[in-house]
Amino acid sequence: MSRQILVTSALPYANGPIHLGHLVEYIQTDIFVRFQRLRGHRAVYVCADDTHGTAIMIRAQKEGIPPERLIADMAVAHQRDFAAFGISFDHYGSTNSAASRAACDGIWAALVAANMVVERSVERLYDPVQKTFLADRFVVGECPRCGTKDQYGDSCEACGSTYAATELKNPRSVHSGAAPVTKPSRQLFVRLESLQPFLTEWTRSSGALQEEVANYLAGHFLNKPLQDWDVSRPAPYFGFEIPGHPGQFWYVWFDAPIGYIGSTAEWCQRHGESLDAWWRNPKCEIVHFLGKDITYFHTLFWPALLRVGGYQLPRRVQIHGFLRVAGEKMSKSRGTFVTAERYLQHLEPGWLRYYYASKLSPRIDDLDFVPDEFVGKVNSDLVGRVVNLASRSARFVEAAGLAPAYPDDGGLFARAASLGDTIAAAYEGCDYREAMRLCMTLADAANEYVEGKAPWTLKKDPSRAAELRDVCTVVLNLFHQIAIYLAPVLPDLATKAGRLLGSAMDRWQLAQQPLVGTPVATFEHMMARVDEAAVAAMFVAEAAVPAAVAADATGTAAPSTDGGEALVKEPLAGTITIDDFQKVDLRIARIVRAEAIPEAKKLLRLQLSLGGTATRTVFAGIKSAYEPEQLVGRLVVMVANLAPRKMKFGVSEGMVIAAGTDGEVFLLSPDAGARPGQRLH
Ligand code: MSP
Ligand code: ZN
Repeated sequence: MSRQILVTSALPYANGPIHLGHLVEYIQTDIFVRFQRLRGHRAVYVCADDTHGTAIMIRAQKEGIPPERLIADMAVAHQRDFAAFGISFDHYGSTNSAASRAACDGIWAALVAANMVVERSVERLYDPVQKTFLADRFVVGECPRCGTKDQYGDSCEACGSTYAATELKNPRSVHSGAAPVTKPSRQLFVRLESLQPFLTEWTRSSGALQEEVANYLAGHFLNKPLQDWDVSRPAPYFGFEIPGHPGQFWYVWFDAPIGYIGSTAEWCQRHGESLDAWWRNPKCEIVHFLGKDITYFHTLFWPALLRVGGYQLPRRVQIHGFLRVAGEKMSKSRGTFVTAERYLQHLEPGWLRYYYASKLSPRIDDLDFVPDEFVGKVNSDLVGRVVNLASRSARFVEAAGLAPAYPDDGGLFARAASLGDTIAAAYEGCDYREAMRLCMTLADAANEYVEGKAPWTLKKDPSRAAELRDVCTVVLNLFHQIAIYLAPVLPDLATKAGRLLGSAMDRWQLAQQPLVGTPVATFEHMMARVDEAAVAAMFVAEAAVPAAVAADATGTAAPSTDGGEALVKEPLAGTITIDDFQKVDLRIARIVRAEAIPEAKKLLRLQLSLGGTATRTVFAGIKSAYEPEQLVGRLVVMVANLAPRKMKFGVSEGMVIAAGTDGEVFLLSPDAGARPGQRLH
């Protein structure tokens, strides 16, 4: 019977790029969705950018652009990265959308009607420089219990205690470094207490949660009265204003999960579907994938909101652990914080899909990226054991095609066919590691067969052509089965296998019937081996450059051009090597401030953002062609590793690229979608 399944991944924050940690989740979810589709079920996969909150507001401020612009740029970048990894969303929305707002309004009205919203005044920390209230994570100071320095405003990493941000000793704002003051603020709270029995029951007996999650909730949250949930934030805040409460905004975690509904609503609208058929239909299975850090938002607050709003509760909340690299937390300074973009500059997306699949289990354990293991799994499992089956047999039957009847193979095909249900159960249970292990046992059996029959030897004896064809028919059929079983993980490999054998590769059932009497296409290259050096390069690549990029504008001065010299006409010179070219670190930068220098005829002083918090000051000889105001917010190309240069008006820390000579100046800008900090190559 065909099932109707709505699948989500957590909505990535719009304040940063997609990285290898995120991809654990989006790849895990995508495999599940592709598996369900292959099984003939109707699976719709929605996601969105999570766009609201203080972090995004402040980052936009730093870059000198409106938050709407920041989230629009980020939406493009996120979707480009996801597409590159083959993540097959049916719809990708934004929490800052009319559809999300409408869903928030509906749930809010239901909370108000149920008498679950109360207002009271609370003392909150306020940054007097940034003029903003401070979320717990934006205050650091000494732990009030053990005195450890540099702890966040909610909990201490050293002693594990939790406390209110107002209890921190010597607190400072992470935005401005200023000491926060306390200010009273009227806040709205959702009273969850009345839902305690429902939540206790649901977390224990709905079967939606992994056992370890249910135990954790029972032991940490549901064993005491549920606290009221503080869901409003005072202006300035980038988010939705609360109806009837001007100057008060929903806390980002209120509207974030509601974004799942908003995004589904947009998909429904585009496809003429009814939202209720997906969110208020007990037959529709809602499945959420997310990481362990956001467990309680999805297993306490979210079910509460759904319940009160009259929506269907999730059938399953599938929680995964965190990515580590060689046993440690990802770290920018160690070069192990790898963005999707950086990965793609060095390695193939399919390799990561397979590597993660081979490590993912239904447990919440962390997952470790071990470079040697990555190389080993790709080269020996995928290329050595799977792809090799095709490359060692397909060429011998390109002319003849597959044998008209399936030959005796000693039961290999039948055994692999009967393993289909076991492999499917492993995918269904998110035990991809087990599914991959089973596929590899099939590959081993197939390889043993090839070794035994040695088609390359048969090939030399024309009198054994029929035997050769039979052997290759068996091997290619075993390869075809494995490619179907691996299709949720490696859709591109499945497509190539399909092209080779004339198979649609769109149904799990295809693994049950051997292909016979059909043509075999010319063998095309299916998957390259990983080069260890490329993996190593990915983990160090950027470390060398950004010393400069990360440097603070006020710190070590960096390089530039004095008046107009960037624009001097150069004769076309002789050739340089690619290595010469790569010495020049060209980056996309955003002009966050521009001002004329009255004493200089040609110069503007520009402040450039490379995406992080640091900015660079650059003097550019473009005064004749641009008004400073018109430059603010635009993207340009800069040389980021030019040695700093002392000039009359200050130190110039880079150079902006422009074309033109004498009176003419044309600044270069990237196409839409490029982001500050990206390297040109
Ligand atoms: N915006 C929230 C989610 C709102 S859902 C209504 C958020 N965003 S996030 O960008 O920080 O993370 C998105 C997802 O990626 C989360 O499920 C998170 O657990 C997961 N991961 C982020 N970093 C990760 C690792 N290093 N490792 C594994 N998963 C990680 O949380
Ligand atoms: Zn402490």
